[in-house]
Amino acid sequence: MTASDRPLTVPDLAVARAEGRRLAMLTAYGAGFARTCDANGVDLLLVGDSLGMVVQGHGSTLPVTVDDMVYHTACVARGIRRALLVSDLPFQADATPERALDAATRLLQAGAAMAKLEGAGPKLEVVRFLAEREIPVCSHLGLTPQSVLRMGGFKVQGREAAAAARLREDALAVAEAGAALIVLEGVPAALAAEITAASPVPTIGIGAGPHCDGQVLVLHDMLGLDSGHRRPRFVKDFLAEGGSVAGAVRAYVAAVRDGSFPAAEHSYL
Ligand code: KIV
Repeated sequence: MTASDRPLTVPDLAVARAEGRRLAMLTAYGAGFARTCDANGVDLLLVGDSLGMVVQGHGSTLPVTVDDMVYHTACVARGIRRALLVSDLPFQADATPERALDAATRLLQAGAAMAKLEGAGPKLEVVRFLAEREIPVCSHLGLTPQSVLRMGGFKVQGREAAAAARLREDALAVAEAGAALIVLEGVPAALAAEITAASPVPTIGIGAGPHCDGQVLVLHDMLGLDSGHRRPRFVKDFLAEGGSVAGAVRAYVAAVRDGSFPAAEHSYL
């Protein structure tokens, strides 16, 4: 087995960043698509609670349960050999450190290598509690879909100076609390670049411009499927240029690695 064949580990994420290798991440919800992504070079697979929208057909991620996440995590885990599997703590599963530990333990026992949770502030205690108990944590900052009711929709975050300053502080705080990876969603490209430069851990962008350490897209979006929702600016249909699902995944991975995706047209000012 060569170094590029062996399963990726959490410490490999920091190595990739140190070596300037961009990380390509996609969501997956079942074994078949996971196998195709894994075989075509995707570094990280995310069982996102976006499954509430793209698989279950809800209008938000709020109805997704821990049982849903465990089921889909186990399905995806059976399809992968090399990619690192990250799984979301769904709405309110991280409301207390103890609840989060129970849910994250179930996700790791189903095959995930990291648990992702949204937010900083009161969630810092949760990040620290998990990280100190051998649960690798990915924090999700910026446009956090579980905050859709408070935000009044899925809106770009950090455009005003005070909000940008808070996001910069939050990124440093989650890393200090033990997060090993940060997803930045729906953030102006320049702000994401500043956060990435200052962050001690790798960042993965989605609608956060080209200067993150990696990128993630929802699989259904990059395959051009109609999600029933308005298509965000940061989405690109890779099936159109890839010609097949495997070709789309290869085109996405190549574009993330060489920095051609996301382009300016996929980024927010
Ligand atoms: O749930 C999800 O798919 C996510 C990504 C959009 C980052 O959190």
